[in-house]
Amino acid sequence: MLMRPRRLRRTAAMRAMVRETRLCPSMLVYPIFIREGRGIVEDISAMPGQKRYSPDTLPEVLERVTKAGVDNVLLFGLPEHKDERGSGAYAEDGVVQQALREGKKRFPEMLFIADVCMCEYTSHGHCGVLKGGAGSSNPDLTVDNDPTIELLAQTAVSQARAGADVVAPSDMMDGRVGAIRAALDAAGLEDTAILSYAVKYASAFYGPFREAAGSAPAFGDRRSYQMDPRNAREAMRELALDLEEGADMVMVKPGLPYLDILRAVKEKSPVPVGSYCVSGEYSMIKAAAANGWLDEERTVCEVATCLVRAGADILITYHAPELAGWIREGKL
Ligand code: PBG
Repeated sequence: MLMRPRRLRRTAAMRAMVRETRLCPSMLVYPIFIREGRGIVEDISAMPGQKRYSPDTLPEVLERVTKAGVDNVLLFGLPEHKDERGSGAYAEDGVVQQALREGKKRFPEMLFIADVCMCEYTSHGHCGVLKGGAGSSNPDLTVDNDPTIELLAQTAVSQARAGADVVAPSDMMDGRVGAIRAALDAAGLEDTAILSYAVKYASAFYGPFREAAGSAPAFGDRRSYQMDPRNAREAMRELALDLEEGADMVMVKPGLPYLDILRAVKEKSPVPVGSYCVSGEYSMIKAAAANGWLDEERTVCEVATCLVRAGADILITYHAPELAGWIREGKL
């Protein structure tokens, strides 16, 4: 007898009934760039359709996003002033802290995730403080792990005080999840959750983000703290450490090139797993669509479906508002 899997593909109703992967808008997170200033809504040239907002214009985008069906946002800050120690990251009136206060006041039902990192705030663009360098007699330009995690912990506390429901450390320093958990608890912020960028690779796909956030390193690269794309077993080690240190949720980043890692993390993780479909993945689709080479809607729906099939419980994507619409229209 000839086996006929095509019977289950015959009609749209049949295909819908037997689908193995289903998406819903509540799993989507939309990243937003906040810059200092007033009245600003500014295009990001490397990411067509994405913009930078000042804290006072943030409510406009939150309104649009929540109307589209996305209630979870991830905030990145671009300070006016950068320095060696990234002091804008943990300033009580820092740009993300201002945005969180404004956003939480206007949209208390939305979930605010704050990215915790120093690269947008340091004059040298690295994700932590340097051992030596400008103004110091020490010529060592490597990122100094332990002083950095103290500053990251301070950053997380100030963001949580400003209204962040979740803090998301993206720096890849060792021990930062534990340091952040301890600092939050000591500040009486035990309800603030940690979404750890547990498995973050040193990826070329972050290119457009670095233009968007003005965070390209002034020298060198991030390979002494972010993971080597060649390594898979090491991802399990990062996962285990972050879980041990108290991560409430974990993330794999980037998205599409790391499906194997996402699946492996999902199999081992007792906590929700996120996938971050990063700036370069967004811009590639935008560029191809602008040239008529790819159908944007179909491509984005396929990518999102594949990330969820591979294991994502949470999907962080610049296409979140459009995806929510397409999900509601039954496109995926
Ligand atoms: C900060 C950070 C980066 C991204 C998220 N958090 C950039 C980097 O590590 O260089 C990338 C996000 C994206 O490309 O969309 N460390």
